[in-house]
Amino acid sequence: MARSDKVSRDAGIEVIGLVRRFKDVEAVAGIDLTISPGEIYGFLGPNGAGKSTTVHMLTTLLPPSAGRATVAGFDVVKQGSKVRASIGAALQEAALDPFLTGREHLRLGASLHGIRGTERKQLIERLLERVGLTTAGDRKVRTYSGGMKRRLDLALALIHDPSILFLDEPTTGLDPQSRSALWTEVARLAREEGVTVFLTTQYLEEADVLADRVGIIDHGHIVAEGTPGDLKAQIGKSTVEVVPENHDELGRLRELLLRFGEETAARPGAFAVQLNGKGELPSVIRALDTESLRAAEINLHQPTLDDVFLAKTGRTLEGAEEQA
Ligand SMILES: Nc1ncnc2c1ncn2[C@@H]1O[C@H](COP(=O)(O)OP(=O)(O)O)[C@@H](O)[C@H]1O
Ligand SMILES: [Mg+2]
Repeated sequence: MARSDKVSRDAGIEVIGLVRRFKDVEAVAGIDLTISPGEIYGFLGPNGAGKSTTVHMLTTLLPPSAGRATVAGFDVVKQGSKVRASIGAALQEAALDPFLTGREHLRLGASLHGIRGTERKQLIERLLERVGLTTAGDRKVRTYSGGMKRRLDLALALIHDPSILFLDEPTTGLDPQSRSALWTEVARLAREEGVTVFLTTQYLEEADVLADRVGIIDHGHIVAEGTPGDLKAQIGKSTVEVVPENHDELGRLRELLLRFGEETAARPGAFAVQLNGKGELPSVIRALDTESLRAAEINLHQPTLDDVFLAKTGRTLEGAEEQA
């Protein structure tokens, strides 16, 4: 996928056999990851899958039980302070003070990074504008909506111009508008500024829209990995639905389509099958033509990441969330 060539940021994330146990729970059960600089990596999984535990280890908040990880080229165990200097993180439990304003948070954050004076002032205004909080900047955080808090959190994570950004479920609980505004900003950071983004999510759509590559984690194991397109092509099957021009021919259509796949749900007046193989659609169209079966409508439904999750875990992502 297109990546910025304006900025070169040297190293991404390397993880080998990373494990984290909590007493009897193996929250992360030996995962491997290779994430290139400038890439947006979507870490997708239901509640309790091990996403936050992974983020906590990669951001040096939690020591691994086993395995190794380097972030921006630095070892998370042996070079913790160098890792921390290279990363920004917006975690699930945002540490915002309800009695401080947005500007005050940023002023504090900038000071902690040794940024002062005019430079600090300009930086704060730039960040507030970037996340759309300029007018709300002097309001106390306790008056902020969930989306505004998330955006302030993102601004705080960006203060020291990190080369790698960790976002743990950044859009959970946000309305669709705030969600897409955040997506736009995350995509811009990666494309224009070459920032590597490690983003966890429970939303298939988010991973699909935003991520260059997706890793699906379930019970501490990575069960699938690839570009959203690759994953869908690998596992998911396309569905073709045909509406015959003449309703009386529904029976004949049924017979024809069943040669190409298994019956699946269709609208009234239509028949649909889940295609056995890839690239079967042209054969279906040829068969309709050869057998003079006229179609009023032909719809092809591409597989979704949900199909991938189902194929790998035997559960739907939504169902898995409810269980947790
Ligand atoms: N501090 C902790 N102590 C004990 N168990 C934990 C702790 N943190 C997480 N876990 C457990 O580890 C598993 C993974 O949790 P987590 O990484 O938070 O999942 P996710 O972020 O994908 O929802 C869960 O079973 C959770 O209950
Ligand atoms: Mg979590």
